[in-house]
Parts: sequence; C-alpha cells; structure tokens
Amino acid sequence: MIVGVPAETKPDERRVALTPAGATALKAHGHSVIVQRGAGEPSGHDDQAYRNAGARVVNSAARVWNAAEMILKVKEPQPAEYRYLRPGLILFTYLHLAAAVALGRELLDHRVSAIGYETVQLADQSLPLLAPMSEVAGRLAVQVGAWCLEARNGGRGVLLSGASGVKPGKIVILGAGIAGTNACRVAAGIGAEVTIMDVNPSRLRYVSDMFGGRVTTLMSNRATVEEEVTQADLAIGTVLVPGAKTPRLIAARTVRRMKPGAALVDLSIDQGGVSETSRPTTHAQPVYIRDRVVHYCVTNMPGVVPHTSTYALTNATLSYALEIADHGLLEAGARNPALRLGLNTYQGKVVHPAVAEALSLKPHSPWEHER
Ligand SMILES: NC(=O)c1ccc[n+]([C@@H]2O[C@H](COP(=O)([O-])OP(=O)(O)OC[C@H]3O[C@@H](n4cnc5c(N)ncnc54)[C@H](O)[C@@H]3O)[C@@H](O)[C@H]2O)c1
Repeated sequence: MIVGVPAETKPDERRVALTPAGATALKAHGHSVIVQRGAGEPSGHDDQAYRNAGARVVNSAARVWNAAEMILKVKEPQPAEYRYLRPGLILFTYLHLAAAVALGRELLDHRVSAIGYETVQLADQSLPLLAPMSEVAGRLAVQVGAWCLEARNGGRGVLLSGASGVKPGKIVILGAGIAGTNACRVAAGIGAEVTIMDVNPSRLRYVSDMFGGRVTTLMSNRATVEEEVTQADLAIGTVLVPGAKTPRLIAARTVRRMKPGAALVDLSIDQGGVSETSRPTTHAQPVYIRDRVVHYCVTNMPGVVPHTSTYALTNATLSYALEIADHGLLEAGARNPALRLGLNTYQGKVVHPAVAEALSLKPHSPWEHER
C-alpha cells in the first residue's frame, strides 16, 4: 500500500503522524511511504531521516494526498484540505467527528473511509490511541503548573519541591485516571505534598498501592474537593465522565477562596473543564488570572512537547497502521475488533453509532453480514 504523511496544518499542531522508524517498519512490510517535505521538522525529524528510512519526500501536500492510498495524520483535515478527499481514500487520524459535523459530511460525500484514533477501543473499553496523550498531558501538568506558580507569571512564588528546611508545595489532583496518575507520578517525584481524588475506589487503591505513603488518596465529593483545593498551591483537573461534559467540581466561590497566586491547570477543559472559572486557552496565550488564581486551560497540551508526543502517539498508532496496510481496511477490521470500532465512515456510509447520531443518519457496518 502507498502510505502518505502530509505536514499538519492545524494551528499550533507540531506533531507528525509517522516517525522515520515508523517509515522503516512500513517499508519492511513491503509498503511505500511518501512524506511531505518538512512534515517532521517541528517534532525534530528532518527530511533526510525519512529518506534514510526509505521514504520518498515530496514538495507539496497535494502530491502526498493524491498519491497515497492511506493518509496518516494527527489532526482532522482542515477545510483547506477537503479538496484532497476522494473516493477510496483511507484516512487514519484523530477525527472527533461527533463534534465536527461539517467534516463528517465531507468524508461521506467524498466516500472516504476514515478511522478515528479516538474511537479505536479495546475489549476493556479503554481507548489505546487516546491514552498516550493523557499520559503526556498528565506529566506535563505539573511542569506547567510549576511555571504558573512563578512570581513573574502571577503565581505565588512557590517552588513545588520546597528546599532544605522549607515546606514543599501542595498539589491536589482531581481524577485518578490515566492523566491523573501520571500527574501524580511527576508530583510525587519532585517531592511535592500530593493529594489525589477520585470517585472510583479501585483507582484510589491503585494509586495507593503504587505510591505507598508518599501520596494521600481521598474519595472525591463536594466537601473534600472544596477543602483540598482551597489549601492547594496547584490544583490539577483530570476528571472525565465518558460521553458527558465534565462535572464542574470546583465552584467559582471555591476559586475565590484559593490562596492568592495559586495555580489551576485544567486538563478536562476539552470536555468543558472541572472548574466554573475555566475557559479554553491556547499555547500562544496559555494562562489568564481570575480571582488571583493563575488558570492554565490549554486544550491541546501535548502539542507543546511535539517530540515526545509524536513518539508517544506513533508508538500506539503504528501497529494499527501496519495492520491496515498489510491486510486492507476490511480484512484488518475483521481481524481486529478494536480497529473495527474505530471506523467512522466507509465509502459514503457512516459506520460509528455516535457519529451517525451526530449526523442524524443511520449507521451501517461493512461487516454487518458477519453477525
Ligand atoms: N488538555 C489536554 O491537552 C488534554 C490532553 C489529554 C487528555 N485530556 C483530558 O484529560 C481528561 C482525563 O483523561 P484520562 O485519559 O485521564 O481519563 P480517565 O478516564 O483515565 O480518568 C478520568 C478519571 O476521572 C474520574 N472521575 C469521574 N468523576 C469524578 C469526580 N466527580 N471526582 C473525581 N474523579 C472523577 C474517573 O473515575 C477516572 O478515574 C479528559 O477530559 C481528557 O480529554 C486533556
């Protein structure tokens, strides 16, 4: 199969969908790889590295899109890329179509077969192509939180690790899922005083087993959230209720009672945010101060560490890309139920039930006859 990797065009997106090592793997399976010139530069992979891996580097996006049978991307096609959509093309990328109805219609009209990273799902309901980004964002949360606490950024001037003879900072993490436990790992690692809260006792047990006495685990409820957040130097929101808006666990009046110059890093902002005071921000303008609390609510945090994020993402996506390239989309989906669940559109028909609902259409599975 001919596999194409265009440069990303969404503002602030610096990841690339395939590393040179990924290109080597595809070549070893007998496939051809075409990469747009400069596609890997923002994440630290130059054109020569792709050439060394056996890929062909071409000058324009049009040449990649037009030659490829399967396009690997990071973000959903932008309106300027819609002209490249054509019947029979396979598209493997983050899509989030339930919230992007116009793109869904373009994919259907142009009979593109599109698999969304975010809908590939394992038997235990986990989302293997979303998890690596939660891991990156969770670990990054402590780093950006530390930056928010610096006095020049409006923070209260607390060093989270403390110093000899000086107390460390207090970090409160809401949610002990993938992002939360990864934030916890970094927070405990730098020697901060850490409290992590969840409503799921088995998540708290997991954290407790993993970090022993170094971290306090607490059942999340309105009273404990208020008490802990008002004492925190840094509060980190990583709560997720699948398929729903994030519950706003931190009330505006709680924020008003936080320490002046404390920081709030709200990862859950992509699902509405965990605080009543959160609103989305960008890497260009990542923070705002409200009620003397420094708010960081960037919706695509992994974009600021594109080198690590590219590896984390492609480590997870490559095996699926190889399966599709080796067997073709239908056969790969028949073999792998996780991939089957990831198919959003197939040759002019909508396949994924949630996407079908968003587009007010009936879902059709190309594997229906097998049931
Ligand atoms: N901003 C970004 O750049 C970025 C990047 C990656 C992930 N995220 C977001 O981070 C959030 C967390 O992702 P994840 O992969 O860790 O999800 P996850 O499902 O692994 O974890 C979410 C946790 O929240 C817990 N929870 C639910 N209700 C709660 C409540 N009332 N109080 C406390 N905990 C509660 C759940 O039990 C679960 O353990 C998601 O919204 C995700 O989209 C944002």
